[in-house]
Amino acid sequence: MRLPAWGLPALDLRERRPAAVEQMDDPDCDLDALHRTYRGFGVVNPVVAGWQLTYRRWIRPLLDPARTVTVLDIGSGGGDRPRALARQARRDGFRVNITAIDPDARAHAWATARPAVPGLAFRRAASGDLVAAGERYDVVVSNHLLHHLDPAELDGLLADSERLAVRRAVHSDIRRSPTAYALFSAGAGLATPLFPGSFIRPDGLASIRRSYTPAELAAVLPPGWRVQTQLPWRNLAVWDAR
Ligand SMILES: C[S@@+](CC[C@H](N)C(=O)[O-])C[C@H]1O[C@@H](n2cnc3c(N)ncnc32)[C@H](O)[C@@H]1O
Repeated sequence: MRLPAWGLPALDLRERRPAAVEQMDDPDCDLDALHRTYRGFGVVNPVVAGWQLTYRRWIRPLLDPARTVTVLDIGSGGGDRPRALARQARRDGFRVNITAIDPDARAHAWATARPAVPGLAFRRAASGDLVAAGERYDVVVSNHLLHHLDPAELDGLLADSERLAVRRAVHSDIRRSPTAYALFSAGAGLATPLFPGSFIRPDGLASIRRSYTPAELAAVLPPGWRVQTQLPWRNLAVWDAR
């Protein structure tokens, strides 16, 4: 299962590569490039992350026109995903109160410097901080977080999610595949002029190498969690309260 030549380096994606480095995770990475990357996520996430489908299948059925539903987005980064979710829910006639958390000061500063969106608050915090404070949310979500975590961090995030979610947790991530890698490499290469000097392409490719297949993810999820695949290349780790 090696990628064809077509100008791309041959790369074996049969095994997960958790050691592949994402430059934006480096606390000393170039701040301008990081900001360009956050800006680029606003364009890339809607194309690759499939949240329209995820929202319709897993979140909208839990929204209620008669009351405000609380949502927690864990690891919100530049914040484009919770912004889009707040706007989508409002367009559909629902009231949501979204809390978007990230412990990274750079992400928090970027997200809070953007124009405010009604019903959305950014906080600089980790999921464990909210558990310690006894907070609960109807729905807990994340995007592109699972592949970042080492085994202990993943267990911690999932345990936190169970404590924080009243009804459901949905962690959406990339599904590793040679086709996804080839298409992202080519697409992000062509789109490079849109994100000059950002980490979008190298970090996106590293993310795919770090990401799970459905079977790998299922093998590391604790009881009560399941993997739902979503076309074209998403894994969703889903937990529902009993
Ligand atoms: C790749 S970024 C994803 C950003 C954003 N969700 C997106 O899709 O563009 C992952 C983020 O998760 C944050 N993170 C990691 N563990 C976390 C935890 N336990 N609680 C909250 N944020 C966490 C990191 O600081 C990082 O900014």
